[in-house]
Amino acid sequence: MEAIEIIGTGSYVPPLVVNNRDLSKIVDTSDEWISSRTGIKKRRISEGENTSDLGAKAAINALKNANIEALDLDLIIVSTISPDQFMPSTACLIQDKIGAKNAVCFDISAACSGFVYGIEIATNLMNGGKYQKALVIGAEVLSKILDWKDRSTCVLFGDGAGAAILSFGPGKGILHTKLGSDSEKWESLTCKSMALENPYLKEDVIKKEKNSNLKIAMNGKDIFKFAVNIIKLCIQEILEETGYNIEDIKYVVPHQANLRIIEFAAKKLGVDVEKFYMNLSEYGNTSGASVPIALDEMNRKGLLKKGDKIILVAFGGGLTYGCSLIEW
Ligand code: COA
Repeated sequence: MEAIEIIGTGSYVPPLVVNNRDLSKIVDTSDEWISSRTGIKKRRISEGENTSDLGAKAAINALKNANIEALDLDLIIVSTISPDQFMPSTACLIQDKIGAKNAVCFDISAACSGFVYGIEIATNLMNGGKYQKALVIGAEVLSKILDWKDRSTCVLFGDGAGAAILSFGPGKGILHTKLGSDSEKWESLTCKSMALENPYLKEDVIKKEKNSNLKIAMNGKDIFKFAVNIIKLCIQEILEETGYNIEDIKYVVPHQANLRIIEFAAKKLGVDVEKFYMNLSEYGNTSGASVPIALDEMNRKGLLKKGDKIILVAFGGGLTYGCSLIEW
């Protein structure tokens, strides 16, 4: 029986590179503080491109890599927390930009875990028999939802997009995906939507809504603890459920949030941190785009050989988490 494989990857980041020293000119921070606490050195920031622009460019690169046409796609799923607009979905905007007229398109909201959520949704829809070729994209222009006066968040994030094309093939492909959500701690990482507004609002609501912050807000320590534990747990559980050992896994591709989170998680697992692929020093945390950007970079560098087993693992606002075990 044929399995669902990743047949192509692509990514795109805006050209403007903003390094830690550049940020120290707009908030009270330093290269030393950011590097030592997070491992992040640079990030890309949009000078005018929106989320669907980045996503469409990543999609075109993935189509080229898979050697298929946009018209071959029958499903486009975009994970984003920074859509161009509430409506239409970013997936529909990307469909228009790349000319994928035959695709069913929708967005999902699972923050930094969104690409792994997208993989799970796409594989299940494809296994249902109606879809043959899916494009899963993580795309973010986080710079528009950052509070550029808040040094504890604005230094962590960046803009970018990554994409993967899924199709049926002879290999083992996507072996297993596990998702989870833990909303008890949802307030640790938030970005509010538009304030409530209508002619019937109560006075106290109007006051509260006027003061609401529509930018990313975070309790860094809570997220740090959650992330370290959930990376370990996800990897242990997916290995247990598939009968593989960590030694069978060539690379773990983690959400690129913070070097120290990944180092702690690797230590807890008793695994050499070298097994974790990282590019966060270059791009910072690009939320749902971070895993597919890393995957595409690995693919283009030729690091992934046929038969290699890899684990994608991500966590983020929700709080959400998920991992996927894939045979390349
Ligand atoms: N530059 C300089 N100082 C900064 C700073 C910055 N960019 N950001 C915060 N600080 C200051 C704080 O104001 C605080 O100062 P104070 O002690 O005078 O109050 C001090 O540094 C320590 O802050 P704290 O928040 O305790 O630092 P920390 O060691 O917990 O590191 C994070 C902060 C954000 C790096 C860390 O908590 C983290 O990485 N958490 C996970 C975040 C994440 O990955 N989120 C996305 C998940 S998808």
